[in-house]
Amino acid sequence: MIIKPIIAGNWKMHKSNDESISFVGKIQKRILDDELTEIIFCPPFTSLFSIVGTLDNSSFSVGAQNVHCDSHGAFTGEISVNMLDSIGVKYVIIGHSERRHIFDESDHFINEKIIAVNSSNLIPIFCIGETLEQRESGLTDKIIKEQIELGMAKLDSIDPKKFIVAYEPVWAIGTGKTASVLQVEDAHLKIKTNLRILFGSKGEEIPVLYGGSVNENNAESLLKVDGVNGFLIGGASLKVDSFCKIIDIVKNFER
Ligand code: 13P
Repeated sequence: MIIKPIIAGNWKMHKSNDESISFVGKIQKRILDDELTEIIFCPPFTSLFSIVGTLDNSSFSVGAQNVHCDSHGAFTGEISVNMLDSIGVKYVIIGHSERRHIFDESDHFINEKIIAVNSSNLIPIFCIGETLEQRESGLTDKIIKEQIELGMAKLDSIDPKKFIVAYEPVWAIGTGKTASVLQVEDAHLKIKTNLRILFGSKGEEIPVLYGGSVNENNAESLLKVDGVNGFLIGGASLKVDSFCKIIDIVKNFER
């Protein structure tokens, strides 16, 4: 099965509403509309609604950076799946290492969010990845397996068109230290194997993105790696030139 490549830009806590609209406008002027790639903007909550309103290119979609597992209630500062869905948001990042490490989100809490999103119209971008300490202690495979098993627990079925996994080694995020081709290949192979064990052939068809210091200079070699179905990009997704160059690399890549 050919998996459509995905390029998701995680803006984290960057760009005001006006800056977001202007940024997306510039990207839309440079990138031709086609069905070959899925390009996802994940801005802060305050820009979601206005960006959805400016999209006129069917390759583009909007994703949120977080969601709560409950449908409503006394959860100050949180936002629900339906709230995002109702304004045209299509994706949501779950389990990002910054949520895990800075905001102490547990595998159990992440799993509750995944369950809520999996039974909605939204598509989760489920992030996993080891810390440097875990890698240096030889624990990478164990951590990947655990995060997948715990984060995706209690999902009886999976639709590979409605689920995305992103492998983001924590030590490669925002550090300029990209994982080597061999490290990425090995991790993606393990991820696909774990997904196959849990969900059979459908598990293998789930797109797996790489994230961690992706830029226009390393995108092509990372894309050549077996099992890499696209990217989740932080810093380089904030710059028009870099983001467009990465999109072009993915669009022109011959599989
Ligand atoms: P960088 O591309 O800035 O390393 O960030 C990666 C990331 O965290 C995307 O979610």
